[in-house]
Amino acid sequence: MRTFSRSQALFERAKKVLPGGIPGHQDPRLLVRGQSPCFIDRAEGCRFWDVDGHEYIDYMCAYGPMILGYSHPRVEEAAQRQRQKGDCFNLPSPLWVELAEYLVNLIPSADWALFGKNGSDAVNCAVLIARAYTGKNKIIKAEGTYHGIGPWCTPNPTGTTEGERANVLTFPFNDIRTLVRLVEENRSDVAGVIITPFKHEFAHDQEMPSETFLNGLRQLCNADGPVLIMDDVRAGFRLHMGGSAEYFGLKPQLSCFSKAMGNGYPISACLGTRELMKAGKTIFFTGSFFTSAVPMAAALATLMEMNRPGVLDHLFQIGEMLKQGMLKQAESFGLKIKYTGPVTMPFMTFKDDHSFEKNKTFCARAYQEGVFFHPSHNWFLSAAHRKEDIEETLEATYQAFKAVKESFGS
Ligand SMILES: Cc1ncc(COP(=O)(O)O)c(C=O)c1O
Repeated sequence: MRTFSRSQALFERAKKVLPGGIPGHQDPRLLVRGQSPCFIDRAEGCRFWDVDGHEYIDYMCAYGPMILGYSHPRVEEAAQRQRQKGDCFNLPSPLWVELAEYLVNLIPSADWALFGKNGSDAVNCAVLIARAYTGKNKIIKAEGTYHGIGPWCTPNPTGTTEGERANVLTFPFNDIRTLVRLVEENRSDVAGVIITPFKHEFAHDQEMPSETFLNGLRQLCNADGPVLIMDDVRAGFRLHMGGSAEYFGLKPQLSCFSKAMGNGYPISACLGTRELMKAGKTIFFTGSFFTSAVPMAAALATLMEMNRPGVLDHLFQIGEMLKQGMLKQAESFGLKIKYTGPVTMPFMTFKDDHSFEKNKTFCARAYQEGVFFHPSHNWFLSAAHRKEDIEETLEATYQAFKAVKESFGS
Protein backbone atom coordinates (compact mmCIF):
# COMPACT_ATOMS: atom_id res chain seq x y z
CA MET A 1 0.00 0.00 0.00
CA ARG A 2 1.45 3.36 -1.07
CA THR A 3 1.53 6.09 1.58
CA PHE A 4 2.35 9.75 1.11
CA SER A 5 3.97 10.71 4.40
CA ARG A 6 6.86 12.73 2.93
CA SER A 7 4.46 14.61 0.63
CA GLN A 8 2.15 15.39 3.52
CA ALA A 9 4.94 16.51 5.85
CA LEU A 10 6.24 18.87 3.14
CA PHE A 11 2.75 20.22 2.55
CA GLU A 12 2.38 20.99 6.27
CA ARG A 13 5.69 22.91 6.11
CA ALA A 14 4.56 24.68 2.92
CA LYS A 15 1.38 25.95 4.59
CA LYS A 16 3.49 27.77 7.21
CA VAL A 17 5.55 29.77 4.72
CA LEU A 18 3.49 29.86 1.50
CA PRO A 19 -0.11 31.19 1.54
CA GLY A 20 -2.32 28.16 1.04
CA GLY A 21 0.73 25.87 0.72
CA ILE A 22 0.37 25.37 -3.02
CA PRO A 23 -2.07 27.73 -4.74
CA GLY A 24 -4.15 27.34 -7.87
CA HIS A 25 -4.51 24.24 -9.99
CA GLN A 26 -1.57 22.46 -8.33
CA ASP A 27 -3.20 22.52 -4.88
CA PRO A 28 -3.06 18.83 -3.88
CA ARG A 29 -6.44 19.21 -2.15
CA LEU A 30 -7.94 19.16 -5.65
CA LEU A 31 -6.66 15.59 -6.05
CA VAL A 32 -7.66 13.03 -3.40
CA ARG A 33 -7.00 14.30 0.12
CA GLY A 34 -4.41 12.20 1.95
CA GLN A 35 -4.34 9.61 -0.83
CA SER A 36 -2.34 11.46 -3.47
CA PRO A 37 1.15 12.96 -3.76
CA CYS A 38 1.74 16.68 -3.13
CA PHE A 39 5.32 16.99 -4.41
CA ILE A 40 7.33 15.49 -7.25
CA ASP A 41 10.98 14.57 -7.04
CA ARG A 42 11.82 13.88 -10.70
CA ALA A 43 10.33 12.96 -14.05
CA GLU A 44 11.38 11.38 -17.31
CA GLY A 45 9.50 10.49 -20.48
CA CYS A 46 5.87 9.83 -19.56
CA ARG A 47 6.66 8.99 -15.91
CA PHE A 48 7.36 10.82 -12.68
CA TRP A 49 8.44 9.90 -9.16
CA ASP A 50 6.91 11.58 -6.11
CA VAL A 51 8.89 12.51 -2.99
CA ASP A 52 7.83 9.23 -1.34
CA GLY A 53 9.55 7.36 -4.17
CA HIS A 54 6.40 6.14 -5.97
CA GLU A 55 6.52 5.90 -9.75
CA TYR A 56 3.56 6.95 -11.94
CA ILE A 57 2.64 6.91 -15.61
CA ASP A 58 1.57 10.51 -16.01
CA TYR A 59 -1.65 11.73 -17.64
CA MET A 60 -1.39 15.39 -16.63
CA CYS A 61 1.89 16.37 -18.36
CA ALA A 62 2.41 19.26 -15.90
CA TYR A 63 -1.11 20.45 -16.86
CA GLY A 64 -0.26 20.47 -20.55
CA PRO A 65 3.28 21.61 -21.27
CA MET A 66 5.04 18.22 -21.50
CA ILE A 67 3.79 17.28 -24.97
CA LEU A 68 6.99 15.39 -25.86
CA GLY A 69 7.44 13.99 -22.37
CA TYR A 70 9.79 15.05 -19.57
CA SER A 71 13.47 15.61 -20.42
CA HIS A 72 13.05 15.09 -24.13
CA PRO A 73 16.61 14.61 -25.47
CA ARG A 74 16.36 16.95 -28.49
CA VAL A 75 14.69 19.70 -26.49
CA GLU A 76 17.15 19.37 -23.62
CA GLU A 77 20.09 19.37 -26.02
CA ALA A 78 18.88 22.57 -27.70
CA ALA A 79 18.27 24.20 -24.30
CA GLN A 80 21.69 23.12 -23.02
CA ARG A 81 23.45 24.42 -26.15
CA GLN A 82 21.86 27.83 -25.59
CA ARG A 83 22.46 27.71 -21.82
CA GLN A 84 26.18 27.43 -22.48
CA LYS A 85 25.99 30.66 -24.49
CA GLY A 86 23.69 32.41 -22.01
CA ASP A 87 20.00 32.95 -21.35
CA CYS A 88 19.19 36.42 -20.05
CA PHE A 89 20.91 39.24 -21.97
CA ASN A 90 20.67 43.03 -22.46
CA LEU A 91 19.22 42.42 -25.90
CA PRO A 92 17.41 39.42 -27.42
CA SER A 93 19.31 36.55 -28.99
CA PRO A 94 18.79 35.69 -32.69
CA LEU A 95 16.27 33.08 -31.49
CA TRP A 96 13.82 35.93 -30.88
CA VAL A 97 13.59 36.34 -34.65
CA GLU A 98 14.03 32.68 -35.60
CA LEU A 99 11.20 31.52 -33.33
CA ALA A 100 8.86 34.26 -34.58
CA GLU A 101 9.65 33.28 -38.18
CA TYR A 102 9.06 29.61 -37.42
CA LEU A 103 5.69 30.31 -35.81
CA VAL A 104 4.55 32.62 -38.60
CA ASN A 105 5.31 29.82 -41.08
CA LEU A 106 3.62 27.21 -38.92
CA ILE A 107 0.40 29.02 -37.99
CA PRO A 108 -1.56 29.99 -41.12
CA SER A 109 -3.44 32.84 -39.43
CA ALA A 110 -0.28 34.50 -38.07
CA ASP A 111 1.94 37.19 -39.58
CA TRP A 112 3.80 38.22 -36.43
CA ALA A 113 4.48 37.15 -32.85
CA LEU A 114 4.96 38.72 -29.43
CA PHE A 115 6.51 36.57 -26.71
CA GLY A 116 5.82 36.29 -22.98
CA LYS A 117 6.32 33.65 -20.32
CA ASN A 118 2.92 32.32 -19.22
CA GLY A 119 -0.36 31.78 -21.01
CA SER A 120 -1.82 34.71 -19.08
CA ASP A 121 0.79 37.03 -20.63
CA ALA A 122 -0.23 36.04 -24.15
CA VAL A 123 -3.96 36.33 -23.43
CA ASN A 124 -3.63 39.71 -21.70
CA CYS A 125 -1.51 40.89 -24.63
CA ALA A 126 -4.23 39.81 -27.08
CA VAL A 127 -6.90 41.68 -25.13
CA LEU A 128 -4.79 44.87 -25.12
CA ILE A 129 -4.22 44.57 -28.87
CA ALA A 130 -7.91 43.95 -29.63
CA ARG A 131 -8.78 47.11 -27.70
CA ALA A 132 -5.97 49.13 -29.24
CA TYR A 133 -6.99 48.02 -32.75
CA THR A 134 -10.72 48.66 -32.43
CA GLY A 135 -10.65 51.58 -29.99
CA LYS A 136 -13.43 49.70 -28.14
CA ASN A 137 -13.57 48.25 -24.64
CA LYS A 138 -15.72 45.16 -24.25
CA ILE A 139 -14.43 41.61 -24.40
CA ILE A 140 -16.87 38.72 -24.74
CA LYS A 141 -15.87 35.33 -23.35
CA ALA A 142 -17.58 32.00 -22.74
CA GLU A 143 -18.97 31.46 -19.25
CA GLY A 144 -16.62 29.53 -16.97
CA THR A 145 -13.75 29.44 -19.45
CA TYR A 146 -10.35 29.96 -17.88
CA HIS A 147 -8.16 32.53 -19.58
CA GLY A 148 -5.57 32.98 -16.84
CA ILE A 149 -4.94 35.26 -13.89
CA GLY A 150 -5.51 38.68 -15.51
CA PRO A 151 -7.75 40.79 -13.20
CA TRP A 152 -10.28 41.05 -16.06
CA CYS A 153 -10.82 37.27 -16.16
CA THR A 154 -9.49 35.52 -13.06
CA PRO A 155 -12.10 33.05 -11.76
CA ASN A 156 -11.44 34.32 -8.23
CA PRO A 157 -12.12 38.07 -8.27
CA THR A 158 -10.74 38.66 -4.76
CA GLY A 159 -8.47 41.69 -4.94
CA THR A 160 -9.72 42.91 -8.31
CA THR A 161 -11.79 46.06 -8.78
CA GLU A 162 -15.22 46.22 -10.36
CA GLY A 163 -13.73 48.48 -13.02
CA GLU A 164 -11.22 45.85 -14.07
CA ARG A 165 -14.03 43.40 -14.80
CA ALA A 166 -16.63 45.89 -16.00
CA ASN A 167 -16.01 45.38 -19.70
CA VAL A 168 -16.34 41.61 -19.79
CA LEU A 169 -19.53 39.95 -21.07
CA THR A 170 -20.19 36.20 -21.09
CA PHE A 171 -22.20 33.70 -23.11
CA PRO A 172 -22.62 29.91 -22.74
CA PHE A 173 -20.06 28.06 -24.91
CA ASN A 174 -21.60 26.93 -28.22
CA ASP A 175 -24.58 29.31 -27.81
CA ILE A 176 -24.15 31.36 -30.96
CA ARG A 177 -27.52 33.12 -30.57
CA THR A 178 -26.55 34.65 -27.24
CA LEU A 179 -23.14 35.60 -28.59
CA VAL A 180 -24.67 37.32 -31.64
CA ARG A 181 -27.18 39.12 -29.42
CA LEU A 182 -24.39 40.36 -27.10
CA VAL A 183 -22.38 41.65 -30.06
CA GLU A 184 -25.43 43.39 -31.52
CA GLU A 185 -26.51 44.96 -28.25
CA ASN A 186 -22.98 46.26 -27.63
CA ARG A 187 -21.83 46.77 -31.21
CA SER A 188 -20.43 50.24 -30.62
CA ASP A 189 -18.15 48.97 -27.86
CA VAL A 190 -17.15 45.32 -28.49
CA ALA A 191 -13.40 44.99 -29.04
CA GLY A 192 -13.11 41.22 -29.18
CA VAL A 193 -14.52 37.76 -28.69
CA ILE A 194 -12.15 35.36 -26.96
CA ILE A 195 -12.75 31.62 -27.12
CA THR A 196 -10.95 28.39 -26.43
CA PRO A 197 -11.16 25.89 -29.31
CA PHE A 198 -13.44 23.65 -27.27
CA LYS A 199 -14.84 23.79 -23.78
CA HIS A 200 -12.34 22.39 -21.30
CA GLU A 201 -13.63 23.87 -18.09
CA PHE A 202 -12.52 22.56 -14.69
CA ALA A 203 -14.92 19.97 -13.20
CA HIS A 204 -17.01 19.67 -16.36
CA ASP A 205 -17.26 17.28 -19.26
CA GLN A 206 -15.46 18.71 -22.26
CA GLU A 207 -17.55 19.98 -25.16
CA MET A 208 -16.48 20.31 -28.78
CA PRO A 209 -17.68 23.33 -30.79
CA SER A 210 -20.78 22.68 -32.89
CA GLU A 211 -20.78 23.43 -36.63
CA THR A 212 -23.46 26.07 -36.01
CA PHE A 213 -21.24 27.76 -33.46
CA LEU A 214 -18.18 27.66 -35.74
CA ASN A 215 -20.19 29.01 -38.70
CA GLY A 216 -21.63 31.75 -36.54
CA LEU A 217 -18.16 32.75 -35.36
CA ARG A 218 -16.90 32.87 -38.94
CA GLN A 219 -19.70 35.28 -39.87
CA LEU A 220 -19.55 37.37 -36.71
CA CYS A 221 -15.83 38.00 -36.55
CA ASN A 222 -15.19 39.37 -40.03
CA ALA A 223 -13.39 42.53 -41.09
CA ASP A 224 -16.09 44.79 -39.58
CA GLY A 225 -16.82 42.69 -36.52
CA PRO A 226 -15.06 42.19 -33.22
CA VAL A 227 -11.55 40.75 -33.19
CA LEU A 228 -11.61 36.97 -32.81
CA ILE A 229 -9.05 35.83 -30.24
CA MET A 230 -8.28 32.10 -30.08
CA ASP A 231 -6.96 31.15 -26.65
CA ASP A 232 -5.03 28.03 -27.62
CA VAL A 233 -2.91 28.07 -24.46
CA ARG A 234 -4.16 24.69 -23.25
CA ALA A 235 -5.01 22.90 -26.48
CA GLY A 236 -2.36 24.36 -28.79
CA PHE A 237 -0.47 21.72 -30.84
CA ARG A 238 -2.63 18.92 -29.42
CA LEU A 239 -5.09 19.02 -32.33
CA HIS A 240 -3.14 20.47 -35.23
CA MET A 241 0.35 21.88 -35.72
CA GLY A 242 -1.22 24.92 -37.38
CA GLY A 243 -3.10 25.59 -34.14
CA SER A 244 -6.58 24.49 -33.09
CA ALA A 245 -8.20 27.25 -35.15
CA GLU A 246 -6.80 25.57 -38.25
CA TYR A 247 -8.25 22.25 -37.11
CA PHE A 248 -11.71 23.84 -36.85
CA GLY A 249 -11.37 26.04 -39.95
CA LEU A 250 -11.41 29.34 -38.05
CA LYS A 251 -9.33 32.39 -38.93
CA PRO A 252 -8.68 34.26 -35.69
CA GLN A 253 -6.99 37.66 -35.87
CA LEU A 254 -5.14 36.86 -32.65
CA SER A 255 -4.02 33.48 -31.24
CA CYS A 256 -2.44 32.68 -27.90
CA PHE A 257 -0.09 29.78 -27.27
CA SER A 258 1.98 28.62 -24.31
CA LYS A 259 2.05 25.27 -22.43
CA ALA A 260 3.00 22.68 -25.10
CA MET A 261 4.96 25.24 -27.09
CA GLY A 262 8.15 24.85 -25.02
CA ASN A 263 7.81 21.32 -23.60
CA GLY A 264 8.08 22.65 -20.07
CA TYR A 265 10.17 25.76 -20.64
CA PRO A 266 8.47 29.05 -19.75
CA ILE A 267 7.32 30.67 -22.96
CA SER A 268 4.13 31.99 -24.50
CA ALA A 269 3.21 33.80 -27.69
CA CYS A 270 0.50 36.09 -28.94
CA LEU A 271 0.30 35.78 -32.71
CA GLY A 272 -1.62 38.10 -35.00
CA THR A 273 -2.60 38.98 -38.51
CA ARG A 274 -0.97 41.71 -40.58
CA GLU A 275 -3.74 44.27 -40.04
CA LEU A 276 -3.23 44.10 -36.27
CA MET A 277 0.56 44.51 -36.42
CA LYS A 278 0.39 48.29 -35.94
CA ALA A 279 -1.78 47.83 -32.84
CA GLY A 280 0.74 45.24 -31.63
CA LYS A 281 3.39 47.95 -31.86
CA THR A 282 1.40 50.51 -29.89
CA ILE A 283 0.70 48.47 -26.74
CA PHE A 284 3.23 48.17 -23.92
CA PHE A 285 4.13 44.52 -23.51
CA THR A 286 7.44 43.61 -21.97
CA GLY A 287 9.03 41.72 -19.07
CA SER A 288 12.49 41.12 -17.62
CA PHE A 289 12.51 37.56 -18.93
CA PHE A 290 10.38 37.82 -22.08
CA THR A 291 13.45 37.55 -24.31
CA SER A 292 15.19 34.69 -22.40
CA ALA A 293 17.01 32.61 -24.97
CA VAL A 294 16.91 29.13 -23.39
CA PRO A 295 13.11 28.75 -23.50
CA MET A 296 13.18 30.01 -27.10
CA ALA A 297 15.72 27.34 -28.04
CA ALA A 298 13.54 24.76 -26.28
CA ALA A 299 10.41 26.03 -28.05
CA LEU A 300 12.03 25.85 -31.49
CA ALA A 301 13.22 22.30 -30.80
CA THR A 302 9.80 21.31 -29.44
CA LEU A 303 7.89 22.66 -32.42
CA MET A 304 10.31 21.08 -34.89
CA GLU A 305 10.05 17.72 -33.15
CA MET A 306 6.25 17.89 -32.96
CA ASN A 307 6.15 18.87 -36.62
CA ARG A 308 8.02 15.72 -37.69
CA PRO A 309 5.80 13.32 -39.63
CA GLY A 310 3.90 10.95 -37.40
CA VAL A 311 4.49 12.59 -34.00
CA LEU A 312 1.04 14.14 -33.58
CA ASP A 313 -0.51 11.08 -35.26
CA HIS A 314 1.13 8.93 -32.60
CA LEU A 315 -0.42 11.10 -29.89
CA PHE A 316 -3.85 10.55 -31.46
CA GLN A 317 -3.26 6.79 -31.79
CA ILE A 318 -2.26 6.20 -28.20
CA GLY A 319 -5.04 8.56 -27.08
CA GLU A 320 -7.55 6.46 -28.99
CA MET A 321 -6.09 3.29 -27.52
CA LEU A 322 -6.54 4.60 -23.98
CA LYS A 323 -10.06 5.80 -24.74
CA GLN A 324 -11.24 2.55 -26.29
CA GLY A 325 -9.62 0.50 -23.52
CA MET A 326 -11.27 2.52 -20.78
CA LEU A 327 -14.68 2.61 -22.46
CA LYS A 328 -14.59 -1.16 -22.78
CA GLN A 329 -13.56 -1.65 -19.16
CA ALA A 330 -16.25 0.70 -17.82
CA GLU A 331 -18.86 -1.14 -19.85
CA SER A 332 -17.66 -4.52 -18.59
CA PHE A 333 -18.28 -3.28 -15.03
CA GLY A 334 -21.64 -1.77 -15.97
CA LEU A 335 -20.32 1.70 -15.09
CA LYS A 336 -21.67 4.66 -17.06
CA ILE A 337 -18.90 7.09 -17.98
CA LYS A 338 -18.46 10.06 -20.27
CA TYR A 339 -15.11 10.23 -22.04
CA THR A 340 -14.99 13.69 -23.61
CA GLY A 341 -12.76 16.02 -25.60
CA PRO A 342 -9.98 15.21 -28.05
CA VAL A 343 -8.20 11.92 -27.28
CA THR A 344 -4.92 13.84 -26.95
CA MET A 345 -6.35 15.70 -23.92
CA PRO A 346 -9.41 13.80 -22.74
CA PHE A 347 -11.44 13.81 -19.57
CA MET A 348 -13.57 11.11 -17.99
CA THR A 349 -16.47 11.53 -15.62
CA PHE A 350 -18.92 9.08 -14.11
CA LYS A 351 -22.62 9.64 -14.74
CA ASP A 352 -24.42 11.39 -11.85
CA ASP A 353 -21.13 11.86 -9.99
CA HIS A 354 -21.68 15.56 -9.31
CA SER A 355 -19.32 15.74 -6.35
CA PHE A 356 -16.67 13.70 -8.21
CA GLU A 357 -16.61 11.08 -5.45
CA LYS A 358 -16.50 8.20 -7.93
CA ASN A 359 -13.74 9.92 -9.84
CA LYS A 360 -11.78 10.41 -6.62
CA THR A 361 -12.16 6.70 -5.78
CA PHE A 362 -11.04 5.89 -9.33
CA CYS A 363 -8.00 8.19 -9.11
CA ALA A 364 -7.00 7.10 -5.58
CA ARG A 365 -6.88 3.50 -6.77
CA ALA A 366 -5.00 4.50 -9.92
CA TYR A 367 -2.35 6.26 -7.77
CA GLN A 368 -1.93 3.01 -5.84
CA GLU A 369 -1.46 1.20 -9.14
CA GLY A 370 1.06 3.75 -10.42
CA VAL A 371 -1.01 5.85 -12.81
CA PHE A 372 -1.70 9.55 -12.36
CA PHE A 373 -5.01 11.10 -13.47
CA HIS A 374 -6.85 14.13 -12.09
CA PRO A 375 -10.36 13.64 -10.72
CA SER A 376 -11.73 16.98 -11.92
CA HIS A 377 -9.38 18.52 -14.50
CA ASN A 378 -8.95 17.34 -18.08
CA TRP A 379 -6.00 15.02 -18.70
CA PHE A 380 -3.09 15.25 -21.18
CA LEU A 381 -1.16 12.61 -23.10
CA SER A 382 2.36 13.03 -24.43
CA ALA A 383 4.26 11.70 -27.42
CA ALA A 384 6.45 9.84 -24.89
CA HIS A 385 3.55 7.51 -24.02
CA ARG A 386 4.08 4.25 -25.91
CA LYS A 387 1.70 1.40 -26.60
CA GLU A 388 3.24 -0.53 -23.69
CA ASP A 389 2.57 2.39 -21.32
CA ILE A 390 -1.08 2.41 -22.34
CA GLU A 391 -1.28 -1.37 -21.81
CA GLU A 392 0.22 -0.95 -18.35
CA THR A 393 -2.18 1.94 -17.69
CA LEU A 394 -5.16 -0.18 -18.67
CA GLU A 395 -4.19 -2.80 -16.09
CA ALA A 396 -4.33 -0.02 -13.50
CA THR A 397 -7.62 1.45 -14.77
CA TYR A 398 -9.16 -2.03 -14.61
CA GLN A 399 -8.43 -2.07 -10.86
CA ALA A 400 -9.62 1.52 -10.54
CA PHE A 401 -12.99 0.80 -12.22
CA LYS A 402 -13.29 -2.31 -10.03
CA ALA A 403 -12.78 -0.14 -6.94
CA VAL A 404 -15.56 2.21 -8.08
CA LYS A 405 -17.87 -0.71 -8.72
CA GLU A 406 -17.14 -2.17 -5.28
CA SER A 407 -17.68 1.18 -3.51
CA PHE A 408 -20.68 2.54 -5.42
CA GLY A 409 -22.27 -0.41 -7.19
CA SER A 410 -22.88 1.36 -10.51
C1 LIG B 1 -7.15 28.25 -21.93
C2 LIG B 1 -6.14 28.86 -21.01
N1 LIG B 1 -5.81 30.15 -21.15
C3 LIG B 1 -4.91 30.73 -20.37
C4 LIG B 1 -4.29 30.03 -19.36
C5 LIG B 1 -3.30 30.70 -18.48
O1 LIG B 1 -2.05 30.16 -18.67
P1 LIG B 1 -0.93 30.30 -17.55
O2 LIG B 1 -1.37 29.48 -16.39
O3 LIG B 1 0.31 29.76 -18.18
O4 LIG B 1 -0.82 31.75 -17.22
C6 LIG B 1 -4.61 28.68 -19.17
C7 LIG B 1 -3.97 27.90 -18.12
O5 LIG B 1 -4.36 26.80 -17.80
C8 LIG B 1 -5.56 28.07 -20.01
O6 LIG B 1 -5.89 26.80 -19.88
